[in-house]
Amino acid sequence: MLLEEKFVLPNGVSIPKLGLGTWEISDHAVVQAIQDAVKIGYRHIDSAQGYQNENGVGIGIRNCGVKREEIFITTKLDGSVKSYKAAMASVDQSLKRLGLDYIDLMLIHTPKPWNKFLEEDPYFEENRETWRAMEEAYRSGKLRAIGISNFTEADIDNILSGCSIKPMVNQILIHISNTPHELITYSKEKGILVEAYSPIAHGELLKNPQVTAMAAGYNVSVAQLGIRYCLQLNTLPLPKTANAVHMKINAEVDFEITEADMHILKNIGKIQDYGEFSRFPVFGGKI
Ligand SMILES: NC(=O)c1ccc[n+]([C@@H]2O[C@H](COP(=O)([O-])OP(=O)(O)OC[C@H]3O[C@@H](n4cnc5c(N)ncnc54)[C@H](OP(=O)(O)O)[C@@H]3O)[C@@H](O)[C@H]2O)c1
Repeated sequence: MLLEEKFVLPNGVSIPKLGLGTWEISDHAVVQAIQDAVKIGYRHIDSAQGYQNENGVGIGIRNCGVKREEIFITTKLDGSVKSYKAAMASVDQSLKRLGLDYIDLMLIHTPKPWNKFLEEDPYFEENRETWRAMEEAYRSGKLRAIGISNFTEADIDNILSGCSIKPMVNQILIHISNTPHELITYSKEKGILVEAYSPIAHGELLKNPQVTAMAAGYNVSVAQLGIRYCLQLNTLPLPKTANAVHMKINAEVDFEITEADMHILKNIGKIQDYGEFSRFPVFGGKI
């Protein structure tokens, strides 16, 4: 059963193979969402400072009826945090907001601040400094694992060139029609687990007739096909929903997409339009 399966990070820490995304779930609504998710069997929650719901995530975790050590919580440094000092303080602020003694996985959310995402400056030095703080927080036991998100090959090389602890995770945009094969392979070659964010293309996948037809052929929903696709790429999907029915469905992906269909899905026309969310840098926009 998927909810009981785990990947193992390079430092030996286990991470559940399916995580619940929480972007756009309010600080209030996320409390119930986590309690519902845990009841269904989820043990992995993905948050971020930028989602402004760490407080609610912490309340949800502390009151979900399952021991703290059985839950895996990820959060991410705000995009604006780009120095050693700011990162050290920021980790402590997350711990405080979550009301927890440690965080299972902390990521640098983005190599560049969101409002500079399309600019050329790669923030190499700033990211090495930020990473140094992540290493220190890891060594002190505040973080059980550390990683990166939205990092390209060059961004990864930059960290590897000066780190004493390698990133353990790279969380990137992966969904049917958007499969960055080279980056996935590169990350894996460096021993980095790849997490797939927006595995349902932020909901846009549900509108795709070709994907809908294929899902019907497997007698599954489009969301299930999207999640299964990420798993078959050996990446860790993070579908977001606050709907308990959807949570349950999203964890029921015990079917196999054939190699021929995987090939089709890898090469399907790219979703270009993420609706009102197209303005977000992660979907190619400029906020
Ligand atoms: N690192 C980054 O920069 C980054 C960027 C984006 C996302 N993320 C992470 O990845 C998570 C997921 O990405 P996302 O929030 O962009 O979107 P997503 O998971 O790709 O899609 C979410 C959409 O799919 C719908 N949905 C979910 N399950 C469904 C089901 N079984 N049937 C029908 N509809 C379903 C949701 O609606 P309902 O809510 O109504 O179910 C919502 O509209 C985020 O929440 C966040 O944790 C990280």
